Amino acid sequence: RILILDFGSQVTQLIARRVRESGVYCEVIPFNADPARVRDFDPRGIILSGGPASVTASDTPRAPDVAFDLGVPVLGICYGMQTICAQLGGQVDPSDHQEFGRAYVDVTDDCGLFEGLWSSGERHQVWMSHGDRVVNLPEGFRIVGTSDGAPYAMVANDERKIYGVQFHPEVMHTPDGAKLLSNFTHKVVGCGGDWTMAAFRQQAIEQIRAQVGSGRVVCGLSGGVDSSVAAVLIHEAIGDQLTCIFVDHGLLRQDEATQVVDLFRDHYNIPLIHRDASDLFLGKLEGVSDPETKRKIIGGTFIDVFDEEAKSLGGADFLAQGTLYPDVIESVSFTGGPSVTIKSHHNVGGLPERMKMKLVEPLRELFKDEVRELGRELGLPESLIGRHPFPGPGLAIRIPGDITREKCEILRKADAVYLDEIRKAGLYDAIWQAFAVLLPVKTVGVMGDGRSYDYVCALRAVTSTDGMTADSYPFDHEFLSGAATRIINEVRGINRVVYDVTSKPPGTIEWE
Ligand code: XMP
Repeated sequence: RILILDFGSQVTQLIARRVRESGVYCEVIPFNADPARVRDFDPRGIILSGGPASVTASDTPRAPDVAFDLGVPVLGICYGMQTICAQLGGQVDPSDHQEFGRAYVDVTDDCGLFEGLWSSGERHQVWMSHGDRVVNLPEGFRIVGTSDGAPYAMVANDERKIYGVQFHPEVMHTPDGAKLLSNFTHKVVGCGGDWTMAAFRQQAIEQIRAQVGSGRVVCGLSGGVDSSVAAVLIHEAIGDQLTCIFVDHGLLRQDEATQVVDLFRDHYNIPLIHRDASDLFLGKLEGVSDPETKRKIIGGTFIDVFDEEAKSLGGADFLAQGTLYPDVIESVSFTGGPSVTIKSHHNVGGLPERMKMKLVEPLRELFKDEVRELGRELGLPESLIGRHPFPGPGLAIRIPGDITREKCEILRKADAVYLDEIRKAGLYDAIWQAFAVLLPVKTVGVMGDGRSYDYVCALRAVTSTDGMTADSYPFDHEFLSGAATRIINEVRGINRVVYDVTSKPPGTIEWE
């Protein structure tokens, strides 16, 4: 196990991902967490992340002494390296030469950190982002690499196994970065690399059994990857003590409800309540066109219906949720300013408070790609695992303006045709998310000999790695006109198709 102490870098989570990709379990905690937590975690190695502060200022973050007292290997990255130098007796100064972006390090000496990977005399591309620089090393340390802006770009104390790199090995732009981190976890720390999803599965099953005992668990299924994986894993652990509740709000994609029911009830034999609540949801949404109001109505109604169904079961002791690590990771924020609500995504966030049940969250240590891996391990179909994300409020936020059953029907058909074209062109996996939007605008067209006056359909497809930023997918024109022709021919109610080429930012992925 490796412990990562976070000093607030934007990319600390990437360190954790790289470490886990090397087959080693790790967790991230804030640099100022209670030192007892560091000890209790019993790390075999510690990584100090980068951060936005300057060690040259007096009251900026320092690593807890326990990080050095434990005597385990330590790797400092950027700010982490500077604070090692400052805390162990070296000196760090503000520099007039800042280095941001691509840079090169010259390896000047061999050391344990990059043994078998880099050798003295070589030059390697790295990603730098720093203003300060180390000017004097603590006792026992030596320079093992330099760069134009940082004469102390890599430092080492092989005896204490403490290393520092001024660059960021966790980002993609440091081509050998992942190998370097894996060298640290395997060669320096000596971890075995046996953190696999097969091992996690067994461990998680035991934990679920220990937590739940003979209690009853309910789990809300959405048809998405996270809740599906959580449900199958929990079912494997406790069998029919688990009941899944699938609240169908009538805003799902074509055939989605049947697919969920077929897979869980028929294939996995998991007790499943399928509540068709479309009348209730669509009734409450009637005449509502404000996006945030739509979200609130859907979130609130979802909780009501879920609660009702859980009660009809005679109550339950636990609520299972597909919470992931990025939702629970305690990040350090130095900006502190008020954050602006762009969209209230946590549409069912009130559920646990309302239901007063204990939570079972077997995925809370995993990143999204690890959840997918676990899904494969559990034998979930690839079509579900590789599925594009779908928002909780569903089609409601893809129909700007008021929502009617008729509009939902039109949009569902157009969306199905569009995705069918994408699959046929072999593009589904290259795209992060693709969907159709039904605009509340009618335009004139000619159909056969007659005039038509129908809705406009917008197509959206984006590439992204986390949904935080996105680019519109560069379809070729032939694909787009082919999809447009099919939609207009096959979907009554649409006579014009446009393609959305907005990136995020400034746009968002969804239209509302
Ligand atoms: P935006 O539109 O904010 O979307 O660029 C980023 C990602 O979040 C999804 N999304 C939602 N998911 N409830 C959800 O569960 C929501 O209210 C919601 N709004 C957007 C969106 O599909 C994309 O993957």
